[in-house]
This record gives sequence, structure tokens and C-alpha cells, in this order.
Amino acid sequence: MDITSRTVFMVGGTSGIGLELAHRFRAAGSTVVVGGRNTEVLAQLTAEGLGAVEIDVTDADSVARARDNVLKAHPDLDTVVTMSGTGGPEDLWDTAHFALAQTIVEVNLLGTIRVIDAFTPHLLARGAGTIVTVSSGIGFLPFPLMPTYGASKAAVHAYSEALRAQLAGTGIEVAELVPPAVATRIGGSNPHALALDAYGEEVMELLAQDPTPHEILVQAVLMHRWAERDGTYDALVAQRSQALATLPGRTQG
Ligand SMILES: NC(=O)c1ccc[n+]([C@@H]2O[C@H](COP(=O)([O-])OP(=O)(O)OC[C@H]3O[C@@H](n4cnc5c(N)ncnc54)[C@H](OP(=O)(O)O)[C@@H]3O)[C@@H](O)[C@H]2O)c1
Repeated sequence: MDITSRTVFMVGGTSGIGLELAHRFRAAGSTVVVGGRNTEVLAQLTAEGLGAVEIDVTDADSVARARDNVLKAHPDLDTVVTMSGTGGPEDLWDTAHFALAQTIVEVNLLGTIRVIDAFTPHLLARGAGTIVTVSSGIGFLPFPLMPTYGASKAAVHAYSEALRAQLAGTGIEVAELVPPAVATRIGGSNPHALALDAYGEEVMELLAQDPTPHEILVQAVLMHRWAERDGTYDALVAQRSQALATLPGRTQG
């Protein structure tokens, strides 16, 4: 895709990967509106000259309001990124994990669907545009400490595939960003996490390819994405299961 002349709504762009890509799209020449709940950051972004819109992807009214505001200011909007996400460890021996599971599905899966539903009629009417969904390497290679997070991201992958097929021939393309561990609020405690600027640079290079790749796969995520094909899946899941020893009440090692 041409990253120099887009009008982008970066939903979930107030921190981490979304904020990094918002700045990079803008630096490349595109117009960017950032969405999120953090009004302090939204105000800072407005002061920097970016667009900013409050949105809570778990709330259908909030999504509709944000859509109306963005399209009023930018009737030429052509790119929507569904970056909003949340996650965390869950102990499946303790049913108290359910509250977090519910939040994760609400934000990562249903939030993605709400935002796409809100903008699809506009993009269909334009007959052109790009939807960028955000899954995770964990959606392809489980990290057993984060079961619902992985399940939500595997669901985003499956949804993206179906969305692309349903939008074929409409002029709307669907690209799925598949991040590995990246040093942000979500990925920050992982010592192997990629630096945010290095990740952002690699992502923009991949997004700028023509045609836009169906999956935006940086080098560091290839081991997750292709583990099953490469025959490394079982060994890697066993290795990643060692993190379960960090849960309270589990034997170490
Ligand atoms: N970092 C990693 O290691 C990694 C790996 C794979 C995939 N990912 C995915 O990449 C995406 C970005 O995550 P990140 O790592 O950059 O983490 P982050 O810094 O925590 O960013 C998450 C973003 O989601 C937004 N958000 C959360 N709940 C929301 C809600 N209810 N409504 C609207 N926005 C909401 C947050 O904005 P507000 O707080 O302002 O609402 C924030 O901008 C997520 O989808 C994540 O799952 C990250």
C-alpha cells in the first residue's frame, strides 16, 4: 500500500505499537487520527497535530460516535487499523480468571468486529481502502500462560481470513499484522521483546509493499507463524509452557 498519502484511523493508538505506527504513517506523509480511551494522550496528540478521537471498542455507542466524528472530519478515510488489545496471564486452575477472559474477548475479538462493522459501509461506498487487523504470534503458537489472549488472537486471524474473502472484488484489502513480542505495555516484561522502533520500521517496510501482504510478518515472528509447518510446534509449546511455573501455587521447574 502507498503509506505516503493515506487517511488512517488508528484505533488503539494511544500507546505502544499503535502510537509508533501512527507517528510513522504521519512521518511518511499520511493523515492520521488516533483513537483510544486515554484522553490525556489524545490531547497531547492533538497538540502535536494528529487527529484524536475518544473510543472504547467494548461500547457500540462509543464506536458509532467515533466513526461519525472521524468521517465528518475525514470523509476520504481509507485505512482503519484495529490495534486495540489487552491481555494477561491466567491461571486455569482458578475460575477467577473468567473475568479477565471476558474482557480480553470483548476488546480483542468483539472490539475488532465492532470497529470493522462500523467502517465497512463507508469503505464499501468508496470502493477502495485497507483494513489492518492485529493478531499475534501467540495466535499461531500458544503461550500457555495467556490462554484467552492466544484464543482471541487466533480468532482475529480466522476472522481476517474470512473478511478478506468476503470483501474480495470490492476494492477493500485486508492486511493482518502479526506482532511477535514487542516492548510495550503488553509485551514489556518479555526480555526477548523487540524494540518498538525496530518493529515499527520493519512493519512500515512490509506495509509499503505492493500488493500489500495479507500478513505483516517481521523476521522475529516467522518462528511462531510457521512452527506447525516447520515441525517445531510441540517442542516450542513445551518450552513456552515453562512460564506456567511462575503462577502462584505451581511447582517451579
Ligand atoms: N506488544 C506485544 O508483544 C504484542 C504482541 C502481539 C500482538 N500485540 C497486539 O498489538 C496491539 C497493540 O498492543 P501494544 O503491545 O502496543 O500494547 P499497549 O501499549 O497496551 O496498547 C494497547 C492499545 O489498545 C488500546 N485499548 C485497550 N483497550 C481498549 C478499549 N477498550 N477501547 C479502545 N482502545 C483500547 C489502548 O488505548 P487506551 O488505553 O487509550 O484505550 C492502547 O492504545 C494489541 O492488539 C496487542 O494484542 C502486541
